[in-house]
Amino acid sequence: MRIILIGPPGAGKGTQCQRLVELLKVPHLSTGEMLRAAVRAATPEGLRAAVAMEQGHLVPDDLIVGMVTRRLESNDCRNGCLLDGFPRTLPQAETLDDLLERRAMSVDGVIELAVPRDELIRRMLARKRDDDDPAIFSRRISSFEEQTAPLLEYYGRLGKLACIDGLGTADEIFERVKAAIERFARARRGR
Ligand code: AP5
Ligand code: MG
Repeated sequence: MRIILIGPPGAGKGTQCQRLVELLKVPHLSTGEMLRAAVRAATPEGLRAAVAMEQGHLVPDDLIVGMVTRRLESNDCRNGCLLDGFPRTLPQAETLDDLLERRAMSVDGVIELAVPRDELIRRMLARKRDDDDPAIFSRRISSFEEQTAPLLEYYGRLGKLACIDGLGTADEIFERVKAAIERFARARRGR
């Protein structure tokens, strides 16, 4: 299965993907993790992405699309993957659709993790990644609201969206996520 997780910073995308990897036996593709690895390794892509990431802005579409395309073409993604943090803009979503369509593949479902801002801030203060500074975090939330939230309508129109309440324990949320995955699996069998 090919599942996308969408949610604001701190919504629990990475946390739920860690659990889903066990359940679905498909790789977890986190563009944030891929970018942080590129920054650490000081690759040309990492150097190009670093400033935007440090400031809480999205990195340019062409950079991220190049990275994800290479990853999606690798063997372990043949039977599916979990996309965490990608796509994040409409052009990224359209590029992903084209890319999959050319390979006779498609996105099976999109999970939105909905979490109110005050809880996101509580989680961010309890963590402390380099981009978890309050001012940067607030810009990351704005980037989500302005550039990523429109994707919810895009996938909603395609009938692929499941909106999940992201408040509760990680285990409680995982039960909701699994129920959504079962609905996606049924829809896939019906196609
Ligand atoms: P990315 O790494 O994707 O960060 P993000 O979207 O800001 O999200 P986070 O990783 O902070 O949160 P999460 O939803 O994964 O939650 P988590 O499980 O960690 O992106 C970083 C940057 O890279 C972007 O700002 C951008 O610059 C760039 N980038 C990445 N992808 C891009 C793209 N496609 N296009 C352009 N730019 C891109 O949980 C958060 C915390 O809460 C953890 O401490 C966790 O333990 C805790 N937690 C989780 N669940 C719960 C729960 N139920 N209750 C309490 N605490 C919980
Ligand atoms: Mg994450």
